[in-house]
Amino acid sequence: MIGTRTRILAAIALGVMAIASCRKPGPDPPSGGGGGGASGPVYDPTPYPLVTPANFPPMVIPADNPITVKGVELGRYLFYEERLSGDNTQSCSSCHAPATAFSDGPNAFSTGIDGVEGRRNSMALMNLGWETSFFWDGRKATLEEQILMPVIDPVEMHETWPDAVGKLQADSAYRALFVEAFDTDVIDSTLVAKAIAQFLRTMISANSKVDKVARGEAVFTQQEQRGFILTQLEGGDPAEGQGGQWGADCFHCHTQVGGLFTNGQFENNGLDSIFTDLGRYEVTGDPLDRAKFKVPTLRNAALSGPYMHDGRFQTLEEVIEHYNSGGIPSETISPFMKHTQGGLQLPAADKAALVAFLNALTDHDFVNDPRFQDPGTP
Ligand code: HEC
Ligand code: HEC
Repeated sequence: MIGTRTRILAAIALGVMAIASCRKPGPDPPSGGGGGGASGPVYDPTPYPLVTPANFPPMVIPADNPITVKGVELGRYLFYEERLSGDNTQSCSSCHAPATAFSDGPNAFSTGIDGVEGRRNSMALMNLGWETSFFWDGRKATLEEQILMPVIDPVEMHETWPDAVGKLQADSAYRALFVEAFDTDVIDSTLVAKAIAQFLRTMISANSKVDKVARGEAVFTQQEQRGFILTQLEGGDPAEGQGGQWGADCFHCHTQVGGLFTNGQFENNGLDSIFTDLGRYEVTGDPLDRAKFKVPTLRNAALSGPYMHDGRFQTLEEVIEHYNSGGIPSETISPFMKHTQGGLQLPAADKAALVAFLNALTDHDFVNDPRFQDPGTP
């Protein structure tokens, strides 16, 4: 039984004294006047009271970017800030919207500010504080590095960092927010990325029905229970050996232990025999990595379609049918896709049970959490 105990991560205050430094924010006087001169935004390193789920591993937070209340507040503004794009029309949330679990549903590919489509499906954003590689091919190792990319990507926000920073620097409200969060009104891309990373680390999804069942607060329907069991069993005919239990093999890659529903690895789940996107190989150059992609979480999958790196499947039923078919053999297909001959052969009721289980991983509290919605302009 997993208890309801929660762990409070008193976000690394590392000897940071809460001594408020009184600094004036740049050339403009703070609005509100009064002309006192001494009043103004003040650095406030109060740690953000991050509550992480008891069954998750510890979150690793970079020592040089502790999560603070003010940093998260700033990061939230920036996540919804359209001025980070070349024509001030697109923010991170344009392709990572709350209602679709911070993905770009229903689009298979996202369209950038110039009307050009990217080549991969936008990823749902949640529980990123536990990830160690980012993007479908894992080409960035930290959130702080990852966040620098979409702003300058020509098929995404298509802006330069000096321009984007210039727009924020010209806004006294942002200068004040940077003083409060980072003790400086000199804005740069590193601080923008740090603030957004802090905000993203607070976006924790762990309150789906599956979580409530694990905590003893809810019970599965029979169908959901069957679906859960199928995800945890080896696929295939027991008579064939290979550990076959007529299950669905999902757990090998979408590991439920630890609460993240991903093993954090790159795998080829048998989508193609001829590869148009080489995935992880583009990063490592290792032929064994061809067409391997980051294993995404199963959490909130019901909201984040279409599915896979290229958004090829519209529905969860299609996804299940893909796995049931066994997938398409190729030289890098995962050994966990071990039933390419004949497939898993699940009866219709079991396929429906798998879909029911995936639906039970939807966390409505997460996507509707007021702390993650658009805060408007600062
Ligand atoms: C035009 C659409 C678009 C915009 C705007 C956009 N993204 Fe993304 N995002 C994507 C796509 C597409 C991917 C996957 C790209 C790939 O794998 O090559 C992605 C991937 C990510 C990931 C990786 C998630 C993971 O699990 O590995 C993060 C984090 C992320 N985006 C955050 C942001 C932030 C922060 C911003 C704003 C600064 C932003 N995105 C703006 C489309 C967009
Ligand atoms: C060999 C490892 C592996 C196994 C086994 C596996 N998956 Fe996956 N799964 C992946 C990978 C890798 C992706 C992303 C592939 C891509 O985009 O090219 C994925 C994608 C998905 C997606 C789409 C998520 C998204 O955000 O687009 C769902 C849903 C899914 N799998 C469910 C399942 C279910 C249910 C099972 C068991 C029937 C299963 N998977 C078995 C590796 C695996």
